[in-house]
Amino acid sequence: MTSTILRYPIHTLSISLCQRTFRLTAVRSVDDLLTESTSADDIPFWAVPWHAAIGLCQYLCENRHLVRGKRVLELGTGLGLCGIVARWLGGEVTLNDYQPDALEFALWNASQNGVQDIQTLLADWRHFPDVEPYDVVIAADILYERRLHQTLKKVISRTTSAHSRVLLADPWRDTAWEFIVEMERAGWQVDFTEHVARLLDSQQDVIVFNLRPPQ
Ligand SMILES: C[S@@+](CC[C@H](N)C(=O)[O-])C[C@H]1O[C@@H](n2cnc3c(N)ncnc32)[C@H](O)[C@@H]1O
Repeated sequence: MTSTILRYPIHTLSISLCQRTFRLTAVRSVDDLLTESTSADDIPFWAVPWHAAIGLCQYLCENRHLVRGKRVLELGTGLGLCGIVARWLGGEVTLNDYQPDALEFALWNASQNGVQDIQTLLADWRHFPDVEPYDVVIAADILYERRLHQTLKKVISRTTSAHSRVLLADPWRDTAWEFIVEMERAGWQVDFTEHVARLLDSQQDVIVFNLRPPQ
């Protein structure tokens, strides 16, 4: 474990997915990290796991062909769980976040699960670098900010090709549906599945959208 991680009040969760147990080191509570001067942009949403990530991982476990042998980009990875599961299922995975500490936790979480050869991309969606298109772009709970929707549409179109898939998981926020409607208007084809995600002592319904680019 690195000195960066040890600076935080942490705990390690056991999460059952794909018929194995994954260990996930997380910060105990986001509240512990907030100060009076924390700006909206700096709220450390990356530091705890979200139900949407569990729902997306369940979907990946049930549809492993979607990531096996594919180049996979996870946007807004946080603690890295979905990318780690995608790598464990045989994807070539790059984890993106704009918070360096998130990527440090994610790499630690990969290593403590025996998952290796994961790439990271420290980048803000608002200044995203040019990349080779990925076969699959995945993301859990990143659609909560309306003001980032146009930015995310651009990131998705710049990181995908006509043959890519985009898998987005969300706990039924109105903002997610608004984003999906905009994508459908832009010609994307969307299917969805519903999942029950259990995390610590709580459970939440999560929807996973499977988007295919306009042809
Ligand atoms: C609600 S958290 C979800 C984390 C993880 N996907 C999960 O479901 O557990 C949103 C994530 O998006 C990242 N994020 C937010 N704004 C971003 C931006 N402009 N560029 C890159 N990442 C961003 C945050 O740092 C955080 O890790």
